[in-house]
Amino acid sequence: MGLTLAQKIIKSHLVSGTMAVGSEIGLKIDQTLTQDATGTMAYIEFEAMGVPRVRTERSVAYVDHNTLQTGFENADDHRFIQSAAKKHGIYYSRPGNGICHQVHLERFGIPGKTLIGSDSHTPTGGGIGMLAIGAGGLDVAVAMGGGPYYITMPKILRVVLSGSLSPWVSAKDVILEVLRRLSVKGGVGKILEYAGNGVKTLTVPERATITNMGAELGATTSVFPSDEATLDFLKAQGREQDWTELHPDPDAVYDETIEIDLSSIEPLAACPHSPDSVKPVREIGPITVDQVCIGSCTNSSLRDMMRVASILKGKTINPNVSLSIAPGSRQVYGMLAENGALADLIGAGARILECACGPCIGMGQSPKSAGISLRTFNRNFLGRSGTADAQIYLVGPETAAASALSGVLTDPRTLGEEPAINFPDCFEINDNMIIPPASEEEAKDIPILRGPNIKELPVAGPLSETIKAKTLLKVGDNITTDHIMPAGSKILPYRSNIPYLSQFCFAVCDKSFAQRCRENGSGIIVGGSNYGQGSSREHAALVPLYLGVKAVIVKSFARIHCANLVNAGILPLVFEKEKDYDTIDQMDELELNDVRGAVQDGRTITICNRTKGTFFQAKPVLSERQRRIVLAGGLLNDTREQNGR
Ligand code: F3S
Repeated sequence: MGLTLAQKIIKSHLVSGTMAVGSEIGLKIDQTLTQDATGTMAYIEFEAMGVPRVRTERSVAYVDHNTLQTGFENADDHRFIQSAAKKHGIYYSRPGNGICHQVHLERFGIPGKTLIGSDSHTPTGGGIGMLAIGAGGLDVAVAMGGGPYYITMPKILRVVLSGSLSPWVSAKDVILEVLRRLSVKGGVGKILEYAGNGVKTLTVPERATITNMGAELGATTSVFPSDEATLDFLKAQGREQDWTELHPDPDAVYDETIEIDLSSIEPLAACPHSPDSVKPVREIGPITVDQVCIGSCTNSSLRDMMRVASILKGKTINPNVSLSIAPGSRQVYGMLAENGALADLIGAGARILECACGPCIGMGQSPKSAGISLRTFNRNFLGRSGTADAQIYLVGPETAAASALSGVLTDPRTLGEEPAINFPDCFEINDNMIIPPASEEEAKDIPILRGPNIKELPVAGPLSETIKAKTLLKVGDNITTDHIMPAGSKILPYRSNIPYLSQFCFAVCDKSFAQRCRENGSGIIVGGSNYGQGSSREHAALVPLYLGVKAVIVKSFARIHCANLVNAGILPLVFEKEKDYDTIDQMDELELNDVRGAVQDGRTITICNRTKGTFFQAKPVLSERQRRIVLAGGLLNDTREQNGR
């Protein structure tokens, strides 16, 4: 039986397990990436493992999230990452060089290789034919140390694309269409593998927009074949030698298939407050827009920027709209400057931001109170913009630019004929903002530069035999990592300072949660379905650990967050019967006995609700390896035990 493309890459990197859907597999990791908001912690963890140099083919540390420097904290973190990168054999992409996924695609991505990154949009690399997966910082640290990365062997969902996109419709609309059909849970436990004749009509940056937002489906990753278009992209990057042709076997068998006729897609928007709340722009109607933000790792390629410039050229944005534009990389920015498109953007009244995540992570450009913001980004969860009551719509660059001109949500097809854009055939590559690591010899004398913002990592103790604690928080379905550990310019500078961060844990749901934790010393969280969806931030596990959370009992977990809980040493449990969720109230005292034995054997645990005098059952849905990690009190303890340290 033939293999799908994803299965081929998995097979060539398999170090443990068998490729049966649902079983745990270990993968050799060729490349890693970190961004600064998660990277600081990943390098603290890498140091704690005691491995002197990375053992991957390529590891890159990007600084793209916390680039505002209103205090010493971010600058100190950047300096720490730069020194750690130099010492440990990691390339360092300086602030201003661009968003990790865009730069990685341009300068480091290689078809057929495996990549894990401490950022949930690492699957962007699937646009160039990589098996690219978002992971927690500790998983990345372990992979940098040469350890495998473990996932549950996913199902393969083939997305057959036919036809080609109509004028004014872009790759963003394709992935919004997939989200509309499958929902934010539709990719869980799956790899989306794109196939069909429509694939060849899409360039690598367009494919990367689609694989990027596969993260919003909850998918393990998404992948496109590596073909002539991939070769063209790599040639333009001066990296032709990195190309390999990659396709699925003709007789490959897929677990599921959906078909999308590209020519049938129209401009779409994800309405507040979920990326799968998708409607055609024409149906939503001309709502007044206060702000338009163009950029992020989803839509900041040269193609996207040029398309926007072609729409804005010679015009002026609506007086009631603030338009900000952040090119995805310095390469893109430089090319816009050279070909004159930057002048068109500036001339129309756009506020040009640095090449970084910026407003996507709440670093500036928060909308006005109750404002309506159109964004070409990938997430519109409540509060992520930095304005609690803002309404965020996710759209493609064409809709964003058309709406910035009119001041109302506008279907770009109403603008008439789509202007042609001319892409440069070649351009000068300049990697002077990427600092290579020191040689092994030089590295010995390089100090790690640690400012006062770098605090100690919380580490759990071995799992207790009995957990007796109050339900310090009960939350509903679809809790995101933004709910658990919010982002934003006021909080992000403290990503290496867990004690400070702890006061914000769950603050968007319940302002007194952190205080309750401090008063009680330990606690349990009860949640609904898809708990922990969203970003890969391991702080959403590390901060609850610091606050004394011992277990999280939910109807279902999002993949990366569950792995992060395990890695942190918090026991993740899933209700045996979902209706038992309704029997628990916040502050009920729960008692779990024989916990170690149950985890060891993968047994269901009978939990006593001491407040109600009732019992219910929950189970640790863990692989054998994860059971070992939970018993040890987290991945760091386990890695040390495995290494005999
Ligand atoms: Fe950055 Fe937003 Fe992407 S925070 S990595 S641009 S999802």
